[in-house]
Amino acid sequence: MSEKIKAPKGLAGVIVDETKVSKVMPEINSLVYRGYPVQELAELCSFEEVAYLLVHEDLPTQSQLHDFAAKEKKYRGLSDHLQQVIALFPADAHPMDKVRTGISYFGMEDKLIWDPDSDRDPQTNRDKFMLLLAKIPTIIAYAYRQEKGQKPIPPSDTLSFSENFFYMCFGEVPAPEVVKAFDVSMILYAEHSFNASTFTTRVITSTLSDLYSAVVGGVGALKGPLHGGANEQVMHTMLEIEDPGKARQWMLDALREKRKIMGFGHRVYTNGDSRVPTMKKYMQQMASSKKGEKWVDMYEILEQTMVEQKGIYPNLDFPTGPAYYMMGFDIQWFTPLFVMSRITGWSAHIIEQAADNRLIRPLSEYTGVAQRSPLPVGSRK
Ligand code: COA
Repeated sequence: MSEKIKAPKGLAGVIVDETKVSKVMPEINSLVYRGYPVQELAELCSFEEVAYLLVHEDLPTQSQLHDFAAKEKKYRGLSDHLQQVIALFPADAHPMDKVRTGISYFGMEDKLIWDPDSDRDPQTNRDKFMLLLAKIPTIIAYAYRQEKGQKPIPPSDTLSFSENFFYMCFGEVPAPEVVKAFDVSMILYAEHSFNASTFTTRVITSTLSDLYSAVVGGVGALKGPLHGGANEQVMHTMLEIEDPGKARQWMLDALREKRKIMGFGHRVYTNGDSRVPTMKKYMQQMASSKKGEKWVDMYEILEQTMVEQKGIYPNLDFPTGPAYYMMGFDIQWFTPLFVMSRITGWSAHIIEQAADNRLIRPLSEYTGVAQRSPLPVGSRK
């Protein structure tokens, strides 16, 4: 192609490819996965059903769901070697680095010989996805407990995806409204078109690399505070404010100082993130059983003040931050929870990219020093 197009910085507003996985419609504040509005999926489906939908392109029948859930339960365990690797993680390392390393190690266990041909096969990638869907929560729960010097709790083979995760982290399954709020967060975080981490997985897939490499890259992109890391920052902000009575003034001061408020704003949505009302509702529902009314009050005041002052709305990280805190997770582990969910969207995009691939390789405009005069022969010896 001879004609060169200069894209805006950050590729904002640029359509780079087609997808059948999800559609974000900022103008009507809507997000659909494979044609289903995400709000409906969150109300009516389990995370397992939504995971199936994203990767298999349609909702499962009862028997398909049964087989899918049975496989997910069967694959939850980790090898002795991977458990040893987790036991060696430096306790003070970043949790996303631990997850990244756990996934990377498992990728070597699953596939000793790299095969670019089978890596393009959708069924091979669905099989790898199934393994990661089942094992990522176990990697996270084992590393979570290792950090605290606690013994790992092996996965259950009867509990649901979300129930089992609580069980592996805390040794018990909490009240149904808490499990439901977590399951809803998994559904809402599952997929969001060409966000930074998904685009990363597609770029890596486009080189004919394998699914594990793509997912490891996705984890790296998700770690950043402008992407997945925002839910952690939201809770740090709320803890810093401490008292709902101080929330309005805190926000006014922060805006006057031109600070970026984490959990607000979105590259795609300008009139509000379509996932927020659903997550806010489930966060509110669990707040009373967790004595978290204070966080709900603070949420309302911060949201009101930001919308009134700047017309900027909360994104999904705003309600998930306090929700995960009330569920009992340590703040630095919020972003790994996002990985447990987004493995579904990443895998759907990896399969789609591999099926109709072209290497993603943009150009750049050179703005460095002008060409220098030739180095004299022998001058660098
Ligand atoms: N707090 C304060 N101001 C914000 C803001 C926020 N969270 N988000 C956007 N703005 C303001 C910017 O200061 C800028 O104002 P200006 O034009 O007066 O300079 C304007 O809105 C545009 O912001 P910009 O950062 O250029 O938009 P973007 O599309 O590049 O960024 C985000 C989108 C998500 C990166 C951005 O909103 C942000 O950093 N949010 C906080 C991090 C976050 O919650 N990330 C999770 C995303 S799901």
